[in-house]
This record gives sequence, structure tokens and C-alpha cells, in this order.
Amino acid sequence: MPESFEVSMAGDEKYYVPDQSYKEQAWTKDYAQSYKEFLADKTGFWENQAQQLEWFKKWDKVLEWNYPYAKWFVNAKLNITHNCLDRHVNNHRRNKVALVWRGEEGEERIFTYKKLFHEVCRFANGLKKLGVTKGDRVCIYMPLVPEQVIAMLACARIGAVHSVVFGGFGVNALNMRINDAEAKIVITADVTIRRGKTIPLKTIVEEAIINSPSVEKVVVLSREVDQPVELHKELEIDYYELMEGVSAECTPEVMDAEDPLFILYTSGSTGTPKGIVHTCGGYMVGTYYTTLNVFDVKDNDVYWCTADTGWITGHSYVVYGPFAVGATVVLAEAVPDYPDAGAFWKIVEDLGITIFYTAPTTIRMFMRVGEEWPNKYDLSSLRILGSVGEPLNPEAFEWYYRVIGKNHCPVVDTWWQTETGMQMITTMIGEPMRPGFAGKSLPGVVADVVDKRGAPVAPGNGGFLVMRDPWPAMLRTVYKNDERYKTYWNTIPGCYMAGDLAVKGKDGNIMIIGRADDIIITAGHNIGTAEVESALVSHQAVAEAAVIGKPDPLKGNLIKAFVILRVGFQPSEKLKSDLIYHVRMTLGPIAMPSEIEFMDKLPKTRSGKIMRRVLKAKEMGIDPGDVSTLEE
Ligand code: WTA
Repeated sequence: MPESFEVSMAGDEKYYVPDQSYKEQAWTKDYAQSYKEFLADKTGFWENQAQQLEWFKKWDKVLEWNYPYAKWFVNAKLNITHNCLDRHVNNHRRNKVALVWRGEEGEERIFTYKKLFHEVCRFANGLKKLGVTKGDRVCIYMPLVPEQVIAMLACARIGAVHSVVFGGFGVNALNMRINDAEAKIVITADVTIRRGKTIPLKTIVEEAIINSPSVEKVVVLSREVDQPVELHKELEIDYYELMEGVSAECTPEVMDAEDPLFILYTSGSTGTPKGIVHTCGGYMVGTYYTTLNVFDVKDNDVYWCTADTGWITGHSYVVYGPFAVGATVVLAEAVPDYPDAGAFWKIVEDLGITIFYTAPTTIRMFMRVGEEWPNKYDLSSLRILGSVGEPLNPEAFEWYYRVIGKNHCPVVDTWWQTETGMQMITTMIGEPMRPGFAGKSLPGVVADVVDKRGAPVAPGNGGFLVMRDPWPAMLRTVYKNDERYKTYWNTIPGCYMAGDLAVKGKDGNIMIIGRADDIIITAGHNIGTAEVESALVSHQAVAEAAVIGKPDPLKGNLIKAFVILRVGFQPSEKLKSDLIYHVRMTLGPIAMPSEIEFMDKLPKTRSGKIMRRVLKAKEMGIDPGDVSTLEE
């Protein structure tokens, strides 16, 4: 771990100040004032947020903090779907549009809150028929269709713990996640659709569950784009058949605030992904509060977050947060450049999107194809723009603000993680925005940049990004691996270590530099170097592999692999493509290396650890730094 570091920021202190009318009508009108209120009474601040939601029974205590274990809203009882659905159906939002789904060819499906409520109840009753009860784990491996969202909410309705696996993961990645969670049910679809092509999902599930003893049933959504899907009746059941004859009402399971809501796997520094566990009460309050205040959602907003529901962004800001505030949510099974580079802007124009939340890698792709694409469409409905997933570099910020936001929409660059569950750092609506800097701690959060002993770095310096206080939506543990959970809190004394390097500006704004560990963020997806390395080593030709992230102007990072072959195998272009294909099949297309280099030797420490840092420095033509531990 490096020490804290000094950075020079060559006087580039440019701010963008959005129209002050934004501030006047915002839920959080005065950031400084709200933050002061929070500091004056931290638990009282969160209690006020929680009071805005409906509970079956209120808490005895807001927070019980037993370092590093937190309990929020102690002994409170709730069901998150009651707040996401019933609360709206029982009041003026009954006929409000909850969900608009768009397919690649412009197909549309619309659900009012009432309709969504009944669909969720019906599917929840279907799951009950399969014997799913509170605490059972259900794996959801689906395309971005309404049924995916319905399946998540249906699990939450009956207290089953969902584990959503992104549809771009391959057989091994899925198998590992199903087995670690010991999922009883897998919900999937015959195919996912991408750029006009169908990609089979069910066949991946079939392979992935060959040695998964926990799986009792596979529920299959048949999209029947190509042909009707054939089901293996002994194991598989049709999604809609499961819902036949069931009631459209389902009493929500009474959940304790600390009961698990879901597991979501994220990459770690070893080859096995970490099952991040989120609980019902705190997560609900955290995602509700941030959705309302960071995006400043009003009842007439049309909100579109382009993330897939398979990632935390989809969990918190497609599903739970937006429905908790009663928003109209757009879900698009679409890629930004199909059928052409105007695809997203057409959706903005057609649906009158007011709040748009996407990733820097997507923004940079749009920059590359040119302004003429967004300029063909009427984007005047847009009110607020958001970014998440990796640093929004100043050039991308400027382009987003000018070309998409027409020099008036606030851009909220939101820093957070699977582990934090909710947004933690941003520039609140109406505050001056500093390109390159995510912003400041949200009211409710205490983020800081520290050295490895936990001492705050001087303003203008860099170090490790940490959280000093617990927050409601924080992870509670790593599923079945509490030791891994503890490392978040015991690496830097007294703090939660996020794993990111950051710089604290003299103005208090925080700039995120990137990961401090062996996680590569490529096209906005987190991939562990160890995961790719073990996928490579599982190929018969590979003796050893080391993987690095190679900076890329579009994707943030590309995956580059250095490979030592086993005796008897010769380097060739053919073998390179075989290895890339092998990673694709095991981990999925998102984890594919874009470059492979064959080596005779890898740089290692004397204790045998691969020094990826040295490989990266060599690749980038920079000084590798301290190499005193490198073996001869
Ligand atoms: C990175 C995604 C810079 C960061 C919500 C973090 C960011 C990791 C930002 C978590 C941002 C996320 N600026 N970097 N606004 N947002 N990151 O778990 O490195 O998929 O640790 O959660 O993404 O990725 P995850």
C-alpha cells in the first residue's frame, strides 16, 4: 500500500455553477446547512429520513454501532416492497406510470404502480408455490426486462434473498455465484437481445447448474423471439405458467430491519467473488434518501438510469430507490449505438426523460461519435444528469454538461460502491461543480482521504478514501465470509476503507483517482485481476498468468494478460484467440482480455507474489517505483 501522496493541481480550479433556480426548488436547498444539521445530530438526521417511510413497527434505537458491526433501525419491522408499491397504490400514485420498458426496436411496455404491484404479488405467489420461503436464496440471471425487476421485488415481498447475476457473466462466474449463495431457485430467460441478435441465457444456466446441488427449480421466461423454448419439465418451469391461477394480492412478509434483502457479488482481490450482503431497513432508507435528494426527484420526473439491474446501480437506482420515492422509471434493454448512435437520445426525446444517469465510459463513447447524434434530438426535457462507476474526467464532464445538458443541467458525479449500497459523495444539485472532482460527502455521510495510519491528508494531497462513520445502507457482511468483511474496517484504523485512491482538494471536494487494489474497472464493470488470471490458468496451455488494467481513453481500462505457457505449447495468434475465447466462456464477455502477451517469466517478489505494478509500469513506459522486493 503506498503512503499518501502529493499532487499538483496546476491552478486548474474551474467551477461550473448551475442556474440557482435548481437550488430554490430542490429537496436539499442548502448543502452546507444540511450537512451542519447532520453533524449536529447524526442519528437524528437518519431518523428524520426514516420517518418519511412506512414501517410495520418503528425502531427502538436508530443505530447500534459495535465496531465494525452496525445495526440500523433496531427491531423495526418493514417490507421494502410495501414502501415501493403499496404505499403508492394506496395513495395518489395508484395510476401513475411506475415502469416504462423499451426494447432495442422501440417496443414499449408500460406498468402503472397498480399493475406493477399486482405483477409482483402474482410472481411472489408463484415463488411460494415452488416452496420459496423467507431467507431462501434465489438467483436471478435475466435480461433487462420488466420481469427481472418483478422477480427482484417478488423475492423481497416474501423475504427471499435475491442474488442477481448480470446477464453478461459466463458459465463459471454464474456457477460460482449460485453455489456460494446456495440458491434454491434460478430465474432466467431463454435469451437476451443485444444489437439485434439473440444470446442464449438458459443454455448457460443449464451448464452452470450441473454441479449445483442446491438448485431445485429453474424458472424460465420465454421471450420466444426466435422459437418457442423447450423446457425440461422435471427441472424447469415457465415464468407465466407459474403465475397461472394465483392471487394478485400477496401479504408482504414482515421483515426485521436487519434481515437480509439481497446478496450481490462483486470482485475482490482473490479469485472468488464476494457476496455483499444488504439488509432491509437501512438499505431502504439510504436508497430512498439519496434518490430523492441527489436526483431531486419530483412527481412529474421521468427518470432513466441506463445501468443493468445486475449491478448495484441497477439495484439501488433502477429498482429500490426510485420506486421507494414513487418515480416513473424507464428501463431500456438497449445499447447506446444500436441501431445507431442516436439510440439513447431517441429514448430521451420520445419519453421526455428529465433525469438521466449513466456511466463515464458511455459518455466517452458518445463524445467519440460526435455531437451531431445528440443534436438530432430534442433533449430539452432533461433537467438533471448523473454519472457513476469511474472517474468522470474533466473533458467528459464538460462535454456532458455542454452537449447533453445544454449548459444548464446540474451534473451529479456520484461516487459509491456495491458495498456502500447508496451514493456517498457528490455535488448536490445547485452547488458549484468542479470537473474531475466527484464532490463532497452527502449529508449523512462522513468521507475522508487519509494516509495508511488513518490520519487525514492535508488539503491538496492524496491518499486512501475512507468512511469514518457507519451509514444505513452499508454492507453488513460478506456472505459466509465475515473475515473478508472485517478487512474493510481493519485495514486502516477506525475507518471503512473503500479501496480507492483519492485527492482532497483545498476546497473540500474529493477527486477519485481509481482503485488502490487489484480490481480493474473496464467499461464501468469491476473485474478482479485474480478472476481473469484463474480463468486463464484453467486453460490447458497456461502455466501462469498476470493481468493488469491498461488505461484506455474510452473504456477507462482494458484488460491485458501476460501469460506463461506450459511446456509443449507454442505462442501463436491462434492460441491468443483461444485464450480470449476461453475467458469469454468461463467468465463472460465483460471479462475478456483485449490483449495477451506471452512471457517467459513474470516479475515476482521473493516470496513469489506477482508484481502487477511492475508489469503495468513497463506497459505504460513509466517508472515502476520501488522494486527492491523483486526477485533476481
Ligand atoms: C468506482 C458502482 C470515480 C470506484 C456504484 C468504486 C467511481 C467502484 C465512481 C465501485 C465515481 C464508482 N467516480 N470512481 N463517481 N463511482 N466508482 O461496486 O473505484 O460496481 O470503488 O459500484 O467504482 O464499483 P461498484
